[in-house]
Amino acid sequence: MKVLVTGGAGFIGANFVLRVRETRPDWEVTVLDALTYAGNRASLAPVEGQIEFVEGSIADADLVERLVAATDLVVHFAAESHNDNSLDNPWPFMESNIIGTYRLLEAVRKHGKRIHHISTDEVYGDLELDDPARFTESTPLNPSSPYSASKGAADLLVRAWIRSFRIQATLSNCSNNYGPRQHVEKFIPRQITGILDGVRPKLYGAGANVRDWIHVDDHNDAVIAIIERGRLGETYLIGADGERNNREIIALLLELMGKPADWFEHVNDRPGHDLRYAIDSSKLRAETGWAPRYQDIRAGLRQTIDWYAANEAWWRTTKAATEQVYARLGR
Ligand code: NAD
Ligand code: TYD
Repeated sequence: MKVLVTGGAGFIGANFVLRVRETRPDWEVTVLDALTYAGNRASLAPVEGQIEFVEGSIADADLVERLVAATDLVVHFAAESHNDNSLDNPWPFMESNIIGTYRLLEAVRKHGKRIHHISTDEVYGDLELDDPARFTESTPLNPSSPYSASKGAADLLVRAWIRSFRIQATLSNCSNNYGPRQHVEKFIPRQITGILDGVRPKLYGAGANVRDWIHVDDHNDAVIAIIERGRLGETYLIGADGERNNREIIALLLELMGKPADWFEHVNDRPGHDLRYAIDSSKLRAETGWAPRYQDIRAGLRQTIDWYAANEAWWRTTKAATEQVYARLGR
């Protein structure tokens, strides 16, 4: 099978390519990635020579059509992915997340190919801290930020192309990922690399906000399960029952990295900051048999800390510029 992976130089996409090379050696992989500030070719170094890499944008209709025509399946990770950036400058999110997805859908429709669309639980908005409810596949879309609105818009395009044009497509909405090769702008790698540099973790507001953490390899195994065993036209929620508030994550990182429990600082909160995300993944588990391998977030964070400690050359190139952006935003 020929697979076109968009965004394959980003965090989840690169880990997907590595996982596919390891577990599905007969899949032929082409990566299409624009190498934005978030893309990093070094993440694909272990599979150099085993995959084809094309530098370009999913918003480039001619390029997308040529690549889609030559593949069997598109796995679509490419996106602008950071909420804080979307609050600062929304346009790249509209272009990549909405127009880029539209270009892929049109190419898939024209050439009769299959697409799996990667999305986020953030399209559902947020839940109250004391609400026992979790998101399901029938939760209405109610996004809060330009990022989540652009992802929700893309999800709606995919659903409309399924209904009106009968394209062969599946969708998945996953909760917050952590693991190796995540850009240092994101919460967990920002704090790990900060602690390695002797800088205290930075907590937005009071830190009561809850995220439903999942290891990136568990996310990618679920995507492979949906590709192989999911029903066409369906949406699957991916989550590993990993709800923790941000204070708890910082406490775990400090403990695992041998720092005092109070060695962190409060910084300005994010405007419109979603309170809580939580996923009910029973449909995915029942239909595909998938289950997460990282049941214990401590073990997953230990592995992630070890990776950042051993791979300073990978993250050092983007650390200072990232912190300059945060300094300007007061976060
Ligand atoms: P990332 O920012 O680390 O990587 C995104 C990749 O897409 C980068 O390599 C970038 O160069 C590329 N890209 C951006 N715009 C492009 C364009 N126009 N054309 C081609 N390539 C482009 O993001 P990530 O965390 O790996 O997220 C991947 C996908 O998973 C996104 O669709 C995101 O919405 C979704 N998702 C992320 C999480 C999470 O916790 N990170 C959770 C659920 C879903
Ligand atoms: P983030 O990794 O940006 O993911 P998302 O916004 O998609 O959930 O942030 C995760 C949580 O951590 C979110 O509640 C914001 C918070 N946060 C901090 O408290 N400090 C930080 O330095 C960052 C980057 C995020």
